[in-house]
Amino acid sequence: MSRTKHLNELIASRRALLGGLAGLPLLNLAACATSPATTAGGAPTDAMNFASVPATNADTVTLPPGYRWRKLIAWGDALFETVSERFDPDALTRAEQEQRFGQNNDMLACFAADYAFPPPADSDRLILCANNEYASLELAFPSLRDPRATTPAQIEALYAAIGVSVVDIERTGSDWRVVRGAAPGSGHNRRITPFTPVEFTGPAARHPWIAAAAAVVNASEPDRSGGRAPVSAVRCGTAANCAGGLTPWGTYLTAEENFDSLFVGSERAPAVREAMREDAYVLDAASFGYVVGAPFPDTHYPRQFRLAENPHGPALYGWITEIDPHDPHAAPKKRTALGRKKNECATTALARDGRVVVYMGDDQRNEHVYKFVSRGRFDPNNRAANMDLLDNGDLFVAQFEENGGGRWLRLTVEAANAAAAEAESPIRFRDEADLMVRVRDAARLMGATPMDRPEDIEALQDANWRGLGPVLIACTNNSERGFERPGNPRRESDRPNSAQANVAGHILRLDEAGGDSAALRFGWDIFAMGGDPNATATTAMTRGGLPAHVSTKVAGVETISGERFACPDNLFIDSTQRVWISTDGGDSVFADCNDCVMVTSARVQAPRAVKRFLVGPIGSEACGPLMAPDERSFFCAIQHPGGNDVAGNEYGQARWRGAPPNSHFPDGGDSWPRSAVVVVTRDDGGRIGD
Ligand code: FEO
Ligand code: CA
Ligand code: CA
Repeated sequence: MSRTKHLNELIASRRALLGGLAGLPLLNLAACATSPATTAGGAPTDAMNFASVPATNADTVTLPPGYRWRKLIAWGDALFETVSERFDPDALTRAEQEQRFGQNNDMLACFAADYAFPPPADSDRLILCANNEYASLELAFPSLRDPRATTPAQIEALYAAIGVSVVDIERTGSDWRVVRGAAPGSGHNRRITPFTPVEFTGPAARHPWIAAAAAVVNASEPDRSGGRAPVSAVRCGTAANCAGGLTPWGTYLTAEENFDSLFVGSERAPAVREAMREDAYVLDAASFGYVVGAPFPDTHYPRQFRLAENPHGPALYGWITEIDPHDPHAAPKKRTALGRKKNECATTALARDGRVVVYMGDDQRNEHVYKFVSRGRFDPNNRAANMDLLDNGDLFVAQFEENGGGRWLRLTVEAANAAAAEAESPIRFRDEADLMVRVRDAARLMGATPMDRPEDIEALQDANWRGLGPVLIACTNNSERGFERPGNPRRESDRPNSAQANVAGHILRLDEAGGDSAALRFGWDIFAMGGDPNATATTAMTRGGLPAHVSTKVAGVETISGERFACPDNLFIDSTQRVWISTDGGDSVFADCNDCVMVTSARVQAPRAVKRFLVGPIGSEACGPLMAPDERSFFCAIQHPGGNDVAGNEYGQARWRGAPPNSHFPDGGDSWPRSAVVVVTRDDGGRIGD
């Protein structure tokens, strides 16, 4: 239990104090305009000069007139000449998957092929990094009729479909294509899976749980690096990669989120029972939820993911992992100074004095928002000097205040133990390593504000990566029972005495004090409420037949105008501060439209016009909105097409009853659905959205 108020309570308490949204000191973002690079079509603007896409359940990518999409790469596409160009998902093996693009693509980032700072705006050769968040059995192996017939080799192949894919891409005219490598190790192409050697760095690198799990992993998984991996490497790779970020020194940060789902085993296993003699393990297992049963016998899973043999395996995940996309041989590094949680993102901004700030959301209901501030400063003239900046610094968690202010609480052993003593909690933290492994517990004890699933976070920055102060936080939703107290902004309703959950989500805004990303204080307000700005009633029926509060007003004042949307998830802010918002589960609230990408501007005051730019195919989630540096190409990761049908029935159940695929994206016809990265361009080659 938290001793602090939930964010929803603070929103309304603050509103009551100040007399509504009109009374809030709305942050003036117009003053934060940057000087964006000019483009071929003239000076870029923050206008949204395209026809908003109508709601649709079409099984394709739907765009405004004058735009087109092409598949860039999809699950199973070859990264190297060493595997066939033809992908047969029924014949997938681990060895094949380690040379092919992973499944369920999520966050995207691109890097100029040759590092420079600031990043060049006109590169035709990029390195694309894509997270492959998880694997779906129901969207794999098209000929499989009975899930009980799945073999251990097939399950191992699916584990190899998780992690990160690094891909060289190049542009000719307006067309981007993947450049296949001759063989692993040539070019930048690379798969990083849950079996890749990685290094643990920072204060928790030698935590006893990590050491115990590392021994099991390295005994289970042979060194296949040909001696290239460091002797200290742990062959646990990275997994559950949701969003992340990129650093000014040209590395990729991948955020490990729902790692609990990788593990199988229950407390009946003697090794788990033994681990549970430690209270901290019991708390950790409950917090992350990893001690659960599995659909197959344990022996079907790679040994390192069986809790019965590797009870501390979950300590190897939940970290921010840093990857150098420019060096295909560099071992990824798990930066333990940034804390272990269900990380949704890790986006960076430079503080005024050049220190590096990393914003992170912990995407579980009622978890928190964090930031890390490095001790050292970014050196734009010496890339090598920056490579370990994320190993030393301070970790903070956000505490929102009713008066519209907020504090970043520094997480230290002393402060966490003092808070525990004051709360009469038996929890104690031995040292900094223990604190970083169990940082959620420390945050809760210290009074961090519980949130509605904080997902992506983006800071407004100038052309030199310097944070300008404003920071947007997408809070996807919180389906748990809402508050009957005045503290719930969703309580403004024709059912005022009922509890209203935040089903449609919202986007919050922080403003770092003094416009400095390293500030210890901030202001905050609501940037946009998810919902329907044109609704005649505050409550609408969801696809599942439950009433949902869909008003986009706060205290009777509209936060948005234009199109309705729900469940904001990933954010991308372009050079003119237009905000590109992808949705996750929006179709479960507004059934007439698949998950999509919306656009608004951070430069205007409420109500902010919202337009719909892209709608994904049936059953998909739109992830990883991203512009190429010149903003003439837009990338989007279409995740799990066909994961459900238009009525909301999950394919994970329907398939085994004989249902055909819900989607044939991206190849069309009768093809098997595949997650895919698409590239969107304008017919006239102009800047996206202008
Ligand atoms: Fe992987 Fe929080 O979405
Ligand atoms: Ca997400
Ligand atoms: Ca983002």
